[in-house]
Amino acid sequence: MSRVALVTGGTRGIGEAISVGLKEAGYSVAANYAGNDQKANEFKERTGISVFKFDVSDFESVKGGIAQIEAELGPVDILVNNAGITRDTTIHRMDYQQWEDVIHTNLTSCFNTCRCVIEGMRSRGFGRVVNIGSINGQAGQYGQVNYAAAKSGIHGFTKALAQEGAAKGITVNAIAPGYIDTDMVRAVPEDVLKKIVAKVPVGRLGKAEEIARGVLFLVADDGGFITGSTLSINGGQHMY
Ligand code: CAA
Repeated sequence: MSRVALVTGGTRGIGEAISVGLKEAGYSVAANYAGNDQKANEFKERTGISVFKFDVSDFESVKGGIAQIEAELGPVDILVNNAGITRDTTIHRMDYQQWEDVIHTNLTSCFNTCRCVIEGMRSRGFGRVVNIGSINGQAGQYGQVNYAAAKSGIHGFTKALAQEGAAKGITVNAIAPGYIDTDMVRAVPEDVLKKIVAKVPVGRLGKAEEIARGVLFLVADDGGFITGSTLSINGGQHMY
């Protein structure tokens, strides 16, 4: 039977490409979404991938959602923490809600999902976790103290959990995308985005499928020696 993969925020943007890439590679995919029923239903019709609505920032909601996925599809062997939001503004204009929303949706969500699948992965002796970080968690970004802190946190979370999972067949890796052509990046003011793209050596925005390609590499059954790593996919914008 094919392994079950859960992709959070899996019906749009980078998450959509990851869900589709995993399905095409033969995995049984559960795509989570938070709110946009219409987009999620269109995605389901178009791709044939099951969708599950729950709020990744809320532990009880995640617990219920994952229980439903496991009842319908089977135990989750592969977890891709992709769900994320932006509330960009400089700190002197940022209110507490903008801070909290981003930290909870982008970072606390990783605790919530991992906590709910980790015991199963440990008992089966197999797991693949891929956390979607960001170039802006590595390098910082003007107007994103909330987002950069959350994404940076994801990179630390990844390295700690990788150490905990290693002896149990569970690998935990991060991907740090650069600026990818999605609604999130298109929401950046055009003049600002132009300046950012001008600094990308490859000379363009990335494609969501180029991130999915990295996920497929990391979740493979024969990827057991790759853990705790960060794969930067950013067109050469930030190298270290
Ligand atoms: N470094 C230094 N100064 C900067 C700067 C930067 N990177 N960007 C802007 N400034 C300066 C401007 O030059 C300007 O200065 P002056 O007033 O002296 O001209 C001042 O800051 C105000 O700039 P804005 O006009 O842009 O200010 P704003 O309040 O209208 O907007 C902002 C601020 C919302 C942060 C806007 O600049 C913005 O959206 N920036 C892009 C943030 C970004 O890259 N977000 C990424 C979203 S996608 C994503 O996050 C996915 C991923 O993982 C990569």
